[in-house]
Amino acid sequence: MPSDKPAIAITRRLPALVEERARHDYHALLNANDKAWTTTDWTELTREVDGVLCTVTDSVNAAVIDALPERVRVIATFSVGYDHIDVAAAKRRAIVVTNTPDVLTDATADIAMLLLLGTARRASEGEAMMRSRSWPGWSPTHMLGTHLLGKRLGIVGLGRIGSAVARRAVAFGMEIHYLARAPKATVGFTATHHANEATFWPLCQFVSLHLPTNAGTRGLVNAQRLAQLPRGAIVVNTARGEIVDDDALIAALRSGHLGGAGLDVYTGEPNFRAEYAAIPHTFLLPHLGSATFETRCAMGFRALDNLDAFFARRAPDDRVA
Ligand code: DGY
Repeated sequence: MPSDKPAIAITRRLPALVEERARHDYHALLNANDKAWTTTDWTELTREVDGVLCTVTDSVNAAVIDALPERVRVIATFSVGYDHIDVAAAKRRAIVVTNTPDVLTDATADIAMLLLLGTARRASEGEAMMRSRSWPGWSPTHMLGTHLLGKRLGIVGLGRIGSAVARRAVAFGMEIHYLARAPKATVGFTATHHANEATFWPLCQFVSLHLPTNAGTRGLVNAQRLAQLPRGAIVVNTARGEIVDDDALIAALRSGHLGGAGLDVYTGEPNFRAEYAAIPHTFLLPHLGSATFETRCAMGFRALDNLDAFFARRAPDDRVA
């Protein structure tokens, strides 16, 4: 890096190795107490920086972007998803936005498998029983779950993460189906393409969601689609809470139509609907998709790579705006 280093602000604590590199290469304003930035912080703490490295806990809406000082020219998010950034508003201000694809694919696919298995095998109920020391002991009919083996898994959003889930699920003996306008190339697994929702939903014994949030996907998993799933189906979501209509999912779980739901993401995080915690056949995680040390370091380095490219007047690999 040149000696007149650019100045960046980083909105949350990042793994130490990432902060070390940021401090070395930039005048880096770090967030020592890790408290999520408020809208006011976005205005106050960006006064003397050229770029911001933010995360999914930042709501970078049009008002925040419009209030940014002129000198802020780039926002690098430490995430693959960028629904928390108003990309159109950034474009209007000619602010470059980048994300961190690829590096979190495997970690997120692992969590999707954990949700599939954890929900199917009632891991949450079993664990709660052990922690409350209320296990009545082994019996042939105690806490029976269901196999993944031989079951049909429907993938909604067969991109990088959806495909990584498919590869893992094949190893568990599942049959893969996916919903998409056009067939997609698959590497390391075979899958049946469905362009027609009417053939897709009724055959999914399991569904795994891998879509970004946008006007076309918000509330996509609604009452009408859930009703088409076979009785006992299990839905898992490692993408974004907003894809699911919570009222519909809760109703389908309560009525017994669904066999369970495994959720890692929620609308309005860190808040989530209390009903999910009260329903026994849910398996709930606190947005852990990318939460491995290796992955979070890789995400940080990727965000810095994008900033490095921007400040070196090269095209950042992961530019989304
Ligand atoms: C992402 O990168 O979008 C994830 O949700 C953060 O783990």
